[in-house]
This record gives sequence, structure tokens and C-alpha cells, in this order.
Amino acid sequence: MSGLVIAIDGPAASGKGTLARRIAAHYRLNHLDTGLSYRAVAKALLDAGLPLDDVEHAEDAAHGVDLGKIDRTVLSANEVGEAASKVAVISSVRRILVEKQRAFATTPPGAVLDGRDIGTVVCPSADVKIYLTADPRVRAERRWREIEAKGLKADFEAILADIEQRDARDMNRADSPLKPAEDAHLLDSSKMDIDSAFLAACGIIDSVLASR
Ligand code: DC
Repeated sequence: MSGLVIAIDGPAASGKGTLARRIAAHYRLNHLDTGLSYRAVAKALLDAGLPLDDVEHAEDAAHGVDLGKIDRTVLSANEVGEAASKVAVISSVRRILVEKQRAFATTPPGAVLDGRDIGTVVCPSADVKIYLTADPRVRAERRWREIEAKGLKADFEAILADIEQRDARDMNRADSPLKPAEDAHLLDSSKMDIDSAFLAACGIIDSVLASR
């Protein structure tokens, strides 16, 4: 028997990473940001100067991904996220990464996984599924604030355009598009800060667990 599995899906900059980390700490579970695995594949291709639709090299890079050893700092750039969204349309790359993600999910004591297809494809029988969303302008504003807080200049309209483009690519791809699982609990954080979103998510999780 593996432990509890909690799936958190949602679009870019919805805050699912921060939320997933806090939920994992609260329920004492492992945490996996599955976006990092797609980012690692994209970065390998970018570093090698290869096109993002080079299937053979993308598959090699995916086989080389070690979920326990991903360095988040070199993968956080927006260009890498954009490139990750492009390699994520390659079905064979998804199959390789999904297998690794499932192995992580079933390792005791259980895990919180965040991504785009956790509730629909990676862990369709997850104990709790949350689909976290927020209005694109709210997500763009949060990202804009993060950049400005680092003392850097950010262009709000450019950030918004990036987010809308990424949403469109992630939601419209043929394989494992971003969409809420039928049994997912929708959480719209447009009018919430991270503390309120965390409390709302715990409310959902606790009530699901209590009803079993
Ligand atoms: O969550 P993120 O911004 O780090 O994800 C980067 C890209 O990776 C995202 O735009 C699409 C892809 N991705 C995916 O296809 N499936 C996942 N489970 C996670 C990310």
C-alpha cells in the first residue's frame, strides 16, 4: 500500500507550486513539482543548441532526468518554462517522464504532485484532486510583482501575453492537455492570497479524507 496522493493541477503562475509545497509540509508528504522534469528536458536541448522538436534527443534527455536531483535554480527562467511547454507536446517524452512521476507518487509516505495532468493522467486515482486557477490578469500581476520585488523591471503586458500563450499551448495540445479531472475540486484563487488558498485547500482535503 502506498500512502496518500494529492494532485494539484493548474495553469502557469497559478501558485500551485507554493500551494503544493505547503500542503506537503502540512500533511508530511513528499512533494514533486512535475514542471521541473519538462523544464530539465527543455534546458538540455537549449544548452546543446538543439531544436525543441528534436524527438530523439528529447527522449534521451527525458531518460536522463533524475527526479531526486533536479536543480530548480537553473530551470526557473521564463524562457525555460516556455521551452518546457514546447517539449511537453512530445508524447514519447511525456510517457518517459510520467512513468518516473508515478514511481515517485507511490513511494511511502505518499506525495503531493503539482503539474498539468496529475489528476487526469499521472495519478487518476489520487485521493484528492485540486484544480487551482486564477484569472490570467491576476496571475500576470503576481508574476510582475515577484520580478519587481527583486529590483528588476517587468513589462506587465508582455508577461500577460506570455501567460495567455502558454495557457493556450498547454490546454490545446493533443496529449494530456491541461484540464480539470472530472472529480477535481476547483479552487479559484483570483481573490485569495496564498494563506487563504492554503486554508481553502486544507478544507477540501480534510473533508475528502473525513468522508472516506
Ligand atoms: O509548471 P511549470 O511552469 O514549471 O511547467 C512548465 C511547462 O511544462 C508547462 O508549460 C507545460 C509542461 N508541463 C506539462 O506538460 N505537464 C506537467 N505535469 C507539468 C508541466
